[in-house]
Amino acid sequence: MKLAVLRGGKSAEREVSLRSGGQVAKALRGRGHDVTDVDLDGGTWDVLRDGGFECVFNALHGRLGEDGTVQGMLELLGVAYTGSGVLASALCMDKSRAGKVMVAIGLHVPEFEELEINEGVAADLVERVVSRFGLPLVVKPVREGSTIGLTIAKDADAAATGLILAGRYDQRVLVQRFAAGTEITVGVLATPEVQVLPTLEIVSENPVYDYDAKYTAGKSHHIIPARIPEAARVAASDAAARAFSELGCSGMARVDIIVDAGGTPWVLEVNTVPGLTELSLLPDAARAAGVGFEELCQRLVDHAVSRHAHRVGPAAV
Ligand SMILES: Nc1ncnc2c1ncn2[C@@H]1O[C@H](COP(=O)(O)OP(=O)(O)O)[C@@H](O)[C@H]1O
Ligand SMILES: [Mg+2]
Repeated sequence: MKLAVLRGGKSAEREVSLRSGGQVAKALRGRGHDVTDVDLDGGTWDVLRDGGFECVFNALHGRLGEDGTVQGMLELLGVAYTGSGVLASALCMDKSRAGKVMVAIGLHVPEFEELEINEGVAADLVERVVSRFGLPLVVKPVREGSTIGLTIAKDADAAATGLILAGRYDQRVLVQRFAAGTEITVGVLATPEVQVLPTLEIVSENPVYDYDAKYTAGKSHHIIPARIPEAARVAASDAAARAFSELGCSGMARVDIIVDAGGTPWVLEVNTVPGLTELSLLPDAARAAGVGFEELCQRLVDHAVSRHAHRVGPAAV
């Protein structure tokens, strides 16, 4: 097949996406496909319109890639593409709105509040969130990834600095109760039959599972399956499957969860274009389930092509 791999882009996760896309392109070439690497820029529309691609593999992370915008472009172009569509992509990028949906369907999401940060942060605001959520509390941009702009604040000063930092990435900032427990992530494949991948526990050498821990070899370890009781494993897998389907995801997603001492899965977020690098979580969990990286990429492409062929709606221009 003639395929394009979209990677890079303009988000804060550009470097990760370049690595994800590089690995995907290599895997698809390994399967004998004719693969073109496309770094998202102003000329991408023309390249994708004129390239004669049977499918676009979207390996863009973060805003203007994972958030529904690129999916909208691909819909307009009438080209098959991997992963979730416009709505689920946009919804999952928005931790506040996705959180509300997950709460509404009965999933456990650490209590949160959305704030708008413009200039400066008033002391009484900090006081209020500290008294509402306790310490430590978590501050993060509503629409970012890879732990960028995220703070786990242990005191009011750190909360104030965290709000300003998060506000640099997104005016919309989330303040959230800290969930203590075992950090796991659960991959879900749906190509189209749903397969919940084995739970994967993340052990970070850094106090927070931050950008450095995520992308430096040896700074975090994956344990499959997670070291949690069987009942907690079932609850976390169910939560991941429900989040995936109720948010309308397609193809693949990875659901980040903290399992507390009582076995309750606290859902943090759903990633619709999870990392696909050598160190990444979803490929590792897929491998543990017997789905190698090449097969994973191939399945996502096959699913995208058949979904495109069977879609009902206005024809592309
Ligand atoms: N409410 C929370 N309680 C405890 N840890 C959290 C919480 N929110 C985020 N974290 C930590 O920060 C990391 C990144 O947060 P997450 O919400 O997954 O955003 P992203 O991965 O998009 O940056 C998590 O993997 C976890 O280690
Ligand atoms: Mg995450």
